[in-house]
Amino acid sequence: MSVDSLKEQLVKKRTLEEVYDIAKDCVRCPLSQSRTKVVFGEGDSRTKLMFIGEAPGEQEDIQARPFVGRAGKFLDHLLKLAGLERSKVYISNVVKCRPPNNRKPRKKEVETCNPYLQKQIEIINPKVICILGSVPLEALLGKTASIGELRGKPIEKEGITYFPTFHPAATLYRPAVKEEMENDMLSLKELLEKKKIKS
Ligand code: URA
Repeated sequence: MSVDSLKEQLVKKRTLEEVYDIAKDCVRCPLSQSRTKVVFGEGDSRTKLMFIGEAPGEQEDIQARPFVGRAGKFLDHLLKLAGLERSKVYISNVVKCRPPNNRKPRKKEVETCNPYLQKQIEIINPKVICILGSVPLEALLGKTASIGELRGKPIEKEGITYFPTFHPAATLYRPAVKEEMENDMLSLKELLEKKKIKS
C-alpha cells in the first residue's frame, strides 16, 4: 500500500476520530508488527499549539498515550514553565508506533506514517508547532540545519510558526540540555503571549 493510497483514504476525513479509526489498525509498515498499541496523539483538537515528538517509547506503547514515560515527565515540567496545561495543547509524534528497542524511526517509516501527521495538522490547524528534536525537525521542515543551531528560534512556513527545541529525552543523557530546553520554553511562552495564544 502506497503513501498515496493512504493520503487518498484520508482526504475526505474531517475529524481526528475519523483519522484515528484508520490509524488504529494500520499495518502499512513493519512497526505495526512489534507495537502493542498505536499512539495516535492526544489533547484538545481546538488548540492553536501542537507539540510533535519522534516516536512512542515503551510506556507510550503500553498506554497508547504520547509522552507518558520519563521524557514525558520532563515535557510536563516544560509545559508548566511555558504556562501551558497539557490537556489544552495537542501532543503527537512523527511515527505512531514504537520502533523496536526505541531505535530512531527509519526514513521509510517516517514517510509511510507522514499522511497521518499531515492530516492531524490540517484538522487542528495550529498557529504554532513546537518541534521536539531532530526527527520531527526533518519530517516537518526537511533537513536544513541541526536542532542545536535552530533551537529556540521561530521559523515561519506556510502560515505556521515552527518552534524547534531539543527532544526532552536528550536531557536524560545530556544534563546541560535541561537548562537550554527550559530557556527555550520561556521563549516559547513569550512567543505565545505575542501571538495572544493561550493554548
Ligand atoms: N519520545 C517521543 O518522541 N515521543 C513519545 O511519545 C515518548 C517519548
